[in-house]
Amino acid sequence: MPLPADLTARLSLPLIAAPMTGVSGPELAVVACRNGVIGSFPTHNAANVEVLDEWLDQIGTAQSGHPDAAPLAPNLVVHRTNERLAADVDQLVAHGVELVITSVGSPEPVVERLHAAGCLVFADVATLRHAQRALEAGADGLVLLTAGAGGQTGSANPFAFVRAVREHFTGPLVLAGGISDGHALLAAEALGADLAYMGTGFIATTESLAPEDYQAAVVSASLDDVRQTEQVGGLPANLLAAWLESQRAPMVSAGDFQAERLTNGRTVWSAGHSVSGVHYACSAAEVIDRVRLQYRDARNQLLEMPCR
Ligand SMILES: Cc1cc2nc3c(=O)[nH]c(=O)nc-3n(C[C@H](O)[C@H](O)[C@H](O)COP(=O)(O)O)c2cc1C
Repeated sequence: MPLPADLTARLSLPLIAAPMTGVSGPELAVVACRNGVIGSFPTHNAANVEVLDEWLDQIGTAQSGHPDAAPLAPNLVVHRTNERLAADVDQLVAHGVELVITSVGSPEPVVERLHAAGCLVFADVATLRHAQRALEAGADGLVLLTAGAGGQTGSANPFAFVRAVREHFTGPLVLAGGISDGHALLAAEALGADLAYMGTGFIATTESLAPEDYQAAVVSASLDDVRQTEQVGGLPANLLAAWLESQRAPMVSAGDFQAERLTNGRTVWSAGHSVSGVHYACSAAEVIDRVRLQYRDARNQLLEMPCR
C-alpha cells in the first residue's frame, strides 16, 4: 500500500520532524504539522499517561480549524521493558491518532489494536532482518535507521539499505539519518524513499525541549564531533563527544536497553552527522522554510542538468 493520498495532500515537504527523547513535545509537533511536516514526539516525553492525555488535547485544540495540517505521528517504544505501553496506546486510540511510529523492537504488540482504530503503523528498523520482521508483524511502513542518525542509530549505508528494501517492499519508506537540508531530502526521494526523518536539525529550535547548553553545543558541533556508543543506552547511539567525555555516571553494557532510562530526567546530548547543517538556533518554522527553499533549488538544479 503506498502512502495514502489524503495524507500526502497535507504535506508541504516529504518530511517527518523525528521523535526525540528530551527534545520533541507538543509545541514542536504542532509547528511541524501546521507547516506541512509530519510532527512527532515519543510518548515517554510526557511524564505520565495523564500528561500524555493533556499533550494530545493541546495538539488537538491547536489543530482544530486546520484540517489541512499534516498528521501527527507519536512514537511508541515497544520494547518489553516499557511498562506504559498499553496505557499509552489507549491514549493514542482515544485521541484518534492517524499514524504511530514504533521503535526499539517489533511493532507486533501494538499493530492489531492500532489497526482496529484505523491508525497506520510505521516501524523503525536498522537491518533487513528487522525490516522483514516488522512487515510480518503487520507494519504499514518502515523507517530505515541508517549510519550517522542522531540518537539510536543504524550502521547500514543509506544507498544500499533503501535499494535493498525496495527490492521487496513497495509501501511507505522513510529514510532516517543525515538529512540536514532540502538537497539531502530530495536525494532521499531519488533513492526511493517516500519521506525522510529530520531529527538533529530540530534540536536547536525555539520549540525544542532541549536545554540551552545542549542547543548551543549542537550549533557549534560538526560531524567530526559525533561519537557512536552503546554505553549510554545499551543500543548503538550517536552522541556529542564533548558530552560523552564529561560523563562520570556508570556506563551500561551493550545490548542492555531499559525503557526506564528514557524517562530518568537525564539529558543526553544526542546528535547525528547532520549536526554539520545546524548553524544557528531559530524557530522550527524557520528550519522548515529553509528546507523548503533548498528543496526547490535542488529540484530546479536537477531539472537543468543534462540527461546523460
Ligand atoms: C536527541 C535525540 C533523541 C532521540 N530520541 C528518539 C526516541 O525517543 N525515539 C525514536 O524513535 N527515535 C529517537 N531518536 C532518533 C530520531 O527519531 C531520528 O531517527 C534521527 O534523529 C534521524 O537522524 P538525524 O538526527 O540525522 O536527523 C532521537 C534522536 C535524537 C537526536
